[in-house]
Amino acid sequence: MATNRTFTMVKPDAVEAGNIGGILNMIEEAGFKIVAMKYVKLSAEIAGKFYEVHSERPFYGELCEYMSSGAIVAAILEKDNAVADFRKLIGATNPADAEEGTIRKKYATSISANAVHGSDSDENAAIEGSFFFSQFERF
Ligand code: TYD
Repeated sequence: MATNRTFTMVKPDAVEAGNIGGILNMIEEAGFKIVAMKYVKLSAEIAGKFYEVHSERPFYGELCEYMSSGAIVAAILEKDNAVADFRKLIGATNPADAEEGTIRKKYATSISANAVHGSDSDENAAIEGSFFFSQFERF
């Protein structure tokens, strides 16, 4: 059964480019409520832990380096059917394939610097949310 929460990050390229506000605006306009949020900079080690599921993939090293290259905004979002609806809102991993009206179409610059993260399942949304937020921060 779908839960009503997902987890997102505004990635370093989008933070650096001054697109936090634009991206959060698209998220809220699409009907998501921000229920937890923080501005942090990950170490390469912490990024490596977060993306451990990708550790066997060829882009893993580059991904961890990139995700620790600058500040990010992490947030938990609430909406009916949150995971699937948010994946639709962010668009394809590669911005070249992202549909018009998606966050990645508007803000992503490459397949690695792709502006936002969105959990790919309810299970991962819960794991990722609790990776970043304590029980007192996600009520
Ligand atoms: P993935 O989970 O496949 O994509 P998504 O973020 O759309 O769920 O990959 C995680 C991140 O890894 C992706 O957002 C950017 C990075 N990545 C690359 O740098 N190169 C690649 O070829 C792929 C597939 C992903």
